[in-house]
Amino acid sequence: MRPIGVFDSGVGGLTVVKELFRHLPGEDIIYFGDTARVPYGIKSRETVIRFSIENILFLLKHDVKLICVACNTVSSVALPSIKGHFRVPIVGVIAPGVREAVYATRNKRIGVIGTRGTIDSRAYDKEIKQLDPAIKVTAAACPLFVPFAEEGWLEGSEISSVAAKYLKPVKDAKVDTVILGCTHYPLLKPVIKKSLGDDVALIDSAKQVAIEVKKILAQEGALNNKSREGRHKFYVSDNTSWFGSVAGRFLGSPLLDVEKVNNV
Ligand code: DGL
Repeated sequence: MRPIGVFDSGVGGLTVVKELFRHLPGEDIIYFGDTARVPYGIKSRETVIRFSIENILFLLKHDVKLICVACNTVSSVALPSIKGHFRVPIVGVIAPGVREAVYATRNKRIGVIGTRGTIDSRAYDKEIKQLDPAIKVTAAACPLFVPFAEEGWLEGSEISSVAAKYLKPVKDAKVDTVILGCTHYPLLKPVIKKSLGDDVALIDSAKQVAIEVKKILAQEGALNNKSREGRHKFYVSDNTSWFGSVAGRFLGSPLLDVEKVNNV
């Protein structure tokens, strides 16, 4: 049975893998984290497109039946231009998260937070406006959230004051729904919630992405129906020990099979 391919700029995409494990336990999964070149969130569109094509070609060498782009930056900045050039289905994280947010909002005010690349691309705004032009979107880039999440500084005065500063425009706009538009932000849910208040719904697209992947595989008749546990293999472009030590926090379980590759 052919595996599902997943890639991200680094470790953050494991938040999506965690949901894929939950919703598709029988599927084989190959993950590629481009740890040698992370972060993508501050890089130019041309560079993110080039890296993304290389990552897709790497996964295609493993004969994947679908590619899940776990990275919000890639999904926003690169995916619209490259998706049509490949025959394999490619699923990004923007549309599934937006659908849930548009469904959730009551006051038609949605906040979007992500890397600078994601926010500057306005990919979320465009997708939201396509579904409902009446919705007002307030976006904020929160680049320091990524290193805080990787360091495991998920609470305390430092991250709380960073969160308060970044989230002020979103809070002032009186949004009732916020899209966590970056792989790392689900780890910071408690501090984000504390800063925005309990009444604001936080949308973590990972679960919706897993549901979308399952739907597409079912449509294509490509679901693995055999009742066995899926095999999972993780590749990185740098330092497996760092990846292994941080991965557990993102995945919720230890990583067993990590290998360094020189695909780039
Ligand atoms: N994976 C990236 C994202 O979801 C965050 C880390 C990076 O900047 O590469 O946008």
